[in-house]
Parts: sequence; structure tokens; C-alpha cells
Amino acid sequence: MKTSKLKYSGYSIFILLLAALLSRSGNPVNSEKDEMALFIDSLINEMTIEEKAGQLTLYTSGWTVTGPQLRDDYVEELKAGRAGNLFNAHTVDYAIKLQKTAVEETRLGIPLLFGLDVIHGYKTTFPIPLAEAASWDLELIEKTARLSAKEASAAGINWTYNPMVDIARDPRWGRVAEGAGEDVYLGSLIGAAKVRGYQGSDLSDPNTILACVKHFAAYGAAQAGRDYHTVELSDRVLRETYLPPFKAALDAGATTVMTSFNELDGLPASGNHHLMTGILRDEWGFDGFVVTDYTAINEMVPHGVVANNKEAAELAFNAGVEMDMQGGLYAQYIPELIKEGRIKESTLDAYVKRVLEMKYRLGLFEDPYRYLNPKREEQTLYSQELMDHALEVAKESIVLLKNESVNNRPILPLSKSTKSIALIGPLADNQKDMLGTWHVAGDASKAITLLQGIKDTASDVKINYARGTGFSGNDISGFAEALEMAKNSDVVVMALGENYQQSGEAASRSEIGLPGNQLALLKQVQALGKPVVLLAMAGRPLTLEWSHENIPAIVNTWHLGTMAGKAIAEVLFGDHNPSGKLTMTFPRNVGQVPVYYNMKNTGRPFSAENKYTSKYIDVSNSPLYPFGYGLSYSTFSYSDIELSKASMTQNETLTLSVNVKNTGQYDGKEVVQLYIRDLVGSVTRPVKELKGFQKIALKAGESRKVTFSITTQDLAFYTRDMSFKAEPGDFEVFIGTSSAEGVSTRFALQ
Ligand code: NOJ
Repeated sequence: MKTSKLKYSGYSIFILLLAALLSRSGNPVNSEKDEMALFIDSLINEMTIEEKAGQLTLYTSGWTVTGPQLRDDYVEELKAGRAGNLFNAHTVDYAIKLQKTAVEETRLGIPLLFGLDVIHGYKTTFPIPLAEAASWDLELIEKTARLSAKEASAAGINWTYNPMVDIARDPRWGRVAEGAGEDVYLGSLIGAAKVRGYQGSDLSDPNTILACVKHFAAYGAAQAGRDYHTVELSDRVLRETYLPPFKAALDAGATTVMTSFNELDGLPASGNHHLMTGILRDEWGFDGFVVTDYTAINEMVPHGVVANNKEAAELAFNAGVEMDMQGGLYAQYIPELIKEGRIKESTLDAYVKRVLEMKYRLGLFEDPYRYLNPKREEQTLYSQELMDHALEVAKESIVLLKNESVNNRPILPLSKSTKSIALIGPLADNQKDMLGTWHVAGDASKAITLLQGIKDTASDVKINYARGTGFSGNDISGFAEALEMAKNSDVVVMALGENYQQSGEAASRSEIGLPGNQLALLKQVQALGKPVVLLAMAGRPLTLEWSHENIPAIVNTWHLGTMAGKAIAEVLFGDHNPSGKLTMTFPRNVGQVPVYYNMKNTGRPFSAENKYTSKYIDVSNSPLYPFGYGLSYSTFSYSDIELSKASMTQNETLTLSVNVKNTGQYDGKEVVQLYIRDLVGSVTRPVKELKGFQKIALKAGESRKVTFSITTQDLAFYTRDMSFKAEPGDFEVFIGTSSAEGVSTRFALQ
């Protein structure tokens, strides 16, 4: 039985006591759930319509030079019980004040939820999610979420707006940085891992926070990669590609869902009954609550589906959306809409109940200050445990794209006895941009620069540093110094790419090469004839075709967070053997976009001999670097693919094995990937679909038999009549080091 210090009035207290009494005497009110329902129902009984609308209202806090600050009118709303939740209001000191206002200065004293975009860490910043996905390490990813929750909750946060599980196949869209990439299977597993990490097994544990899976739905399909743009896709594609990661995150227990900004089939998601009620509640049985994205209800007016804000509030409410983020429309219009009979009070009660349940499950009614312990905050932020993990995950996220030999030896790893290195580029001695997009509360002054990382890792090497150029414009005034440094050094390391604002929300780009005149600088450096290593540091796949043709070594380091510089240096000098694999295809040029590994075959698949096949006349169909691609300082060979039998029945499991050998000089890790192709379906099927993977460590020279099992579930899809099942027929199965390279065999489903 929970006892509350809050000032719930007579009836609630009576119910609380009754619940306690009954639970002790072994009566039916014996489960936590019944107790919670009794408590919440009694509380709802006490609430005015305005207070109920307040529980469905979420406002942001701002930060000024003097520190965090809540707008005066929000404070008034808070005190009047017309705003029950806040976001961007973190740090214990600040949150205590606000919680105190809610608990002590409102009529019912209902505690606030404190939300924040903890996307890849709170203070300690981990790699951007697209980078972390390249680790293909679900345990590591879950741990990132667990530690992020631990750190954020120590600063007063009990709700994160993560995981972002939008499948993204257009690298022009800046928000690809926030997700796991283009693949449904991997994206689903990663989404679920993050939910488990954030929420743990008990929400009332002060180290856990609510997860919010977003953006529901199909936000990643924004036309032409332009943020907030229209989405147009079939129900089949929605269900096959965009919905599964949401379902997986909900099956893992995600308690909240965020609507997306886009329209779907002509209706913005926040007013889309089919999505919010039909799919989410009726089909999937979701029992948490839905929050809109930032002012997404209001935005239905410019979308053009409602004439004014009041109609927008009505549409969202009746679609099944519980909470209004920042729009203030629920607070303003719910009372009127009820009075006019346009929305039902019983629905309002059901919505409020779902929100209060989360507050209850977090333990906030028992102790509103549960997440607000200054000592814990001090001990937790940037703790060693967090920093160690940040380094490990950063190293695992790095993807080696190219490593050619110069003088009969691969250029990487660099020797620590190299005499001098020219370190050039706007990301070489840069803290802020290491953190990447959505680094929320991350403190740039804690970030390790590449320059620092190299000094710490290879202290005998002389480093000749020059920034060379910036992230935009055509200024070449720094070129001469950079070229001078390059001329006077044995090796050149170019740290080029995007700053933290060139990817993420509202950062779509129509050209996705190295921004500004970085490529011009790279070309001049390359012309000097020195060995050059390019570090591509960005929040999205870049088009790197010229670099691929002309630069012997390329490492994709993304934006790796607080420990970026150290992680990259350890890879450069071979203290860590890279094993990251791309989870998003790197196109050759923007004209190929969308280009992703699991495309359809078409009726005129590519043929070099036949002009009238599906291809371009000016660029190849293949991407520059395919999904699943990533090199190692070692090499791995695949052989002896074997099936337990040549055919299976609907309820059987097929076993498949392959021999993987580390044929190189270094111990290393390899992500062994399993893809399946359904050769003939009642509707067309992709040329390949990832259905399994294992990340294994092999010593130099070691080989291992890697085994997978295939069930009918792996073969199922939305058939011609939209039923989800596996159809009998032949399948190709492919195991390899990427989606483009491996060994294959066939089997049949009877
Ligand atoms: C807008 C973004 O689309 C969403 O992902 C984020 O959670 C909210 N703003 C809140 O910051």
C-alpha cells in the first residue's frame, strides 16, 4: 500500500485507507493494479474538468543566461492545476522548486512529470543513435539507455522522448541521425532494447524513466527528405516497413508514444484516428498514453484539415491523443468542447487515468521528490561508469570504410612511432560538434577532442594541427597553413564532416557531401601525394565518391559524443580494431536516393548489356557503401554454408550454419549477417531482408561455425490479401559480412 503525503481530499484518503485495509485483510483489492485503479479513480472524482485538461497538458521550460526559467504564464497555469507536466525542466535544484509548486500550491497536489529528450545520453553524451546502431550490439545499446536513464533520473527527469524508431531511407533527412537506420528487423530489435534499458523492470525504481516511442508514424518517409514534409505510402508499406519497430518497442513495454508531425493518407498523425486508436489501441492493445509532438495539434490548422485551433483540439482528442505537447489547446478548449458535447467526459477521464497511472507507476504519488536528490545527482553525472561506457560504445560505433595499402602495408592502423601527423579540419580540435545533434544537456567542455585523443594515445607523435576551413562558405584563407602542415608531416589525418547542427531536426540537406569547401581542401591536400586518412564525422551518410576514388583510408566516425576523440584515436592507432557496420546505405550521389539494400527486383532488373533495364545512364545502381558494410583491420572469410535440411514445413525450424574465419593478422569482431529472399510471392518481395545477425569475436587465424535458426515467422509478410503469413515456395538464404557480400544457398517451405 502506498501512502501519500499529498493533500488529496477526504474521499481519496478514505479510498486509500480502504485499499490498505482490504489489501491487508486478503480481500479482492489485493494487487498493485487494483490499488492503483482505486486511488486514481478516486482522484479523478475530485478533479474539475479544467484540472483534468491540465493533466493532459505539457509545457516546456526555457533557459536564459541566468539559468532555467519557466514562463510566468506557465507558472500561473501550473498553480491553477491547468498544466500537469513539464519538459526541458531538469537539474534537481530547479525541478524541486517546480515539483513543490505542483504539490504544495495546487488544489490537489498532483505531482508533475518531467520530460526531456534524452536521445543519446543526458550529460554524458553517447554516440548519436545512427552511430550506435552501427555497433550491432544490442546489449551495449540497452546499457546506453539504462545508464542514460540513471543519469537523467538523477537530475530529476522521469520521462524521455526516446527511442526514435523511424525507419529512414533518405539521408537528406537530418533526423536519420536519431534513429537506427533503414532496416526494419534491426530497428525493431534496437527500439526494444532501448525501451528495456530506459524502463528497466520496475518504473518506481528511481533509476528508471518512462520511454516514449516516436514518431508515430512514418515520419521517416518525409518526401524528398525534407523535414516535416508530406508522407505518402501504401498501407502495405506502412505495415511492413514503418510500423514494426513501434510494435516491437511496445511489446518491450514502452509506456508512451509520440505522434509524428507528418500527414498519412491525407490526415496529420495527431488527428489520425486510424493510427492512434485503430492500430495503437484496438489492434495492438496499447494501454499507456500518447503525447503529441511539439505543437502538432495546432499544426493541423496549416495542414489544412481543420479551420481553427478549437477544431484541431477536437480532432486530436477524438483521434485518441491523450496529451498536448506545448500547444496549450487541450487546456484551452477541452472544457468548452465537453460543454458543447463535441468530446466526451468519459473519454477525458480515461485519458487522465492513463496519465495518472504513469505518475503512480513512477512512484510519484508515494514520493513526488523521488527523482530529486541533490546528492545522487552530484554522484551520478559524468560518473566513471558512464564515461567508461561512453568510450566503449563510441569505439564500437566506428565504421572503417576503406583501408588501402600504401607501400605494401594498409595505411591503418597508424604506427605510434610515426614521426609526425598533420591533423587538419574543422572537427580536429572541436568539442561541441563531437556531441552531435540532440545533445540536450551535454557539456561540450567535457568532450574529448580528436587532437587531445591523439596526444593521449600516441604521445610520441608530433602533431601539426591546422583547422584549414569551416563548415560553410568558400573561405580559403586557412588552406595555406593546412597545406604547409601536410607538406611537413609523414601522414595527414583529415577530420572533416558536419557540425552538430547540420544533421538532426530541421537540418535536411539537398546535397550531402562534405559541407562548405572541405572537399576543395581535401583535394588540395591529396594532391601533395602524402598518405591521407579521411575521418568522416557526420550525423548522416555522406556522399563520398571522390574521396573513395582518391583517398586510401576512410573512417566513418559519425558524432561520437563525450569520448569521441579518445575512441577515434584508439582506432587510428590500432588499440581498438573497428567492427562497426553501416545500418544505412551510403549513396554515391543524391540522385540515387532513396537507395537501400532491401529494394524490389523490378520487372527489368539491371543488366549491363541491356539499356532498357532499371538503371541510370550516369551512375551505377549500387551504392558507394551498402547496408551492413564495414571493414576491420582483420579480414574474415565465409565458407561451408549448410542447412539442416533442404525444406521445412510451416511449424518447423531450419538450422543454418556457416564457417567464419579470421584470416587477418589482428584479433577482431565480425557481424555475421543473415538475409533471406522469398523468390516468388503473391506480392513482390525485396531482393534481401535481414533476418538475423551475430556479432562474434575471433582471434587472428581462428574460425568458428556460426549457427542460425529460421522459423516461418522469419518468412512471413503481408500477402496479397494483407494477411501476415509465410507462403510456400523457394527461398534464398544469404550469410555474409554485409548485405552485398557473402555465401548463399536455397531451401523450400512446403
Ligand atoms: C520536436 C521533435 O520532433 C521531437 O522528437 C521532440 O521530442 C520534441 N520536439 C520535444 O523536444
